[in-house]
Amino acid sequence: MHPLAKRLRDDHRHLQRVLAVLEAQMEALGRAEDVDFDLMLDAMTYITEFPNRLHHPVEDVLFDLLAKRDASAAAACREQIAEHERLFHDSAAFYGLLDAVQVDDATLPRDRLLADGRAFIEAQRAHLRREETELLPRAEQRLDTADWDRAALTAGQVDDPLDATTRPARYEALYRALSRLPA
Ligand SMILES: [Fe+2]
Ligand SMILES: [Fe+2]
Repeated sequence: MHPLAKRLRDDHRHLQRVLAVLEAQMEALGRAEDVDFDLMLDAMTYITEFPNRLHHPVEDVLFDLLAKRDASAAAACREQIAEHERLFHDSAAFYGLLDAVQVDDATLPRDRLLADGRAFIEAQRAHLRREETELLPRAEQRLDTADWDRAALTAGQVDDPLDATTRPARYEALYRALSRLPA
């Protein structure tokens, strides 16, 4: 497996775990229990900073190459690239909603937060599913090492805070929540 293919799958695993943390909070919200807004904001900061800014641009290059090499995958590639933009806007919107509810709990309905949160998580998971089951396997079939190397050039060195080597204090609450998830 090309190192970039492994890195993209590792990124997906990290994102799935952060989404599970967020989902547990949404479930608590659905049961009208107390929720941890700081934790949810940390999770959304991670999603905004890492997948959106550092993972999606690399995939954009990879899927653009795949669209050129495999006409039958071109429409799916274009759709996935367009979805990166939508997911970025969804993340910013959901972060804003969380922040607003935290500041003024009384005036913003929690049922809206719950509905938007669930839709956000589902959209992220559907996006990851398409990549894991369709696009990455297809890219591995149709792109050669030079193509993968070209996409990898855009990846740069990324310090993902969910890698064991870098654990900035900023994400302490998120690390604790992740450590309570099943492996
Ligand atoms: Fe993606
Ligand atoms: Fe991805």
